[in-house]
Amino acid sequence: MNIEWTSDLATGVAEIDNQHKEIFSRFDRLFTACSEGKGKEEVLLLLNFLADYVKEHFAAEERLQLRNAYPDYPNHKAEHARFMADVAKLQAEFKAEGATLSLVIMTNKTLTSWLTQHIKKRDTEVAAYIRQEGGR
Ligand SMILES: [Fe+2]
Repeated sequence: MNIEWTSDLATGVAEIDNQHKEIFSRFDRLFTACSEGKGKEEVLLLLNFLADYVKEHFAAEERLQLRNAYPDYPNHKAEHARFMADVAKLQAEFKAEGATLSLVIMTNKTLTSWLTQHIKKRDTEVAAYIRQEGGR
């Protein structure tokens, strides 16, 4: 799978678009490493990156939604919380078992569903709403 940020995901808010681009490039790095049989070396780096970076990114997205009175804010925020919980679970799994194949596979699954279910659907809905409202 080739992970690339595309302009249909643009929210028009530079901070968020740049964060999405960074997240996509990190996901791509893990998926590439996996296809080269080096997933175990990359998986902890990615989980640590996500735990820090995504927290800040979600806060920025949530501020944007509040500022624009986004109607689906509570559900969107709940999905963010679920993803953070998933990442914490994967980190705990790493602590307990190390970089096992099953951890790499679970991480890939979590990221793939995050990309397709959240970023490509939910975040795109936010972007469309904000464009339609003129954005603040
Ligand atoms: Fe989001």
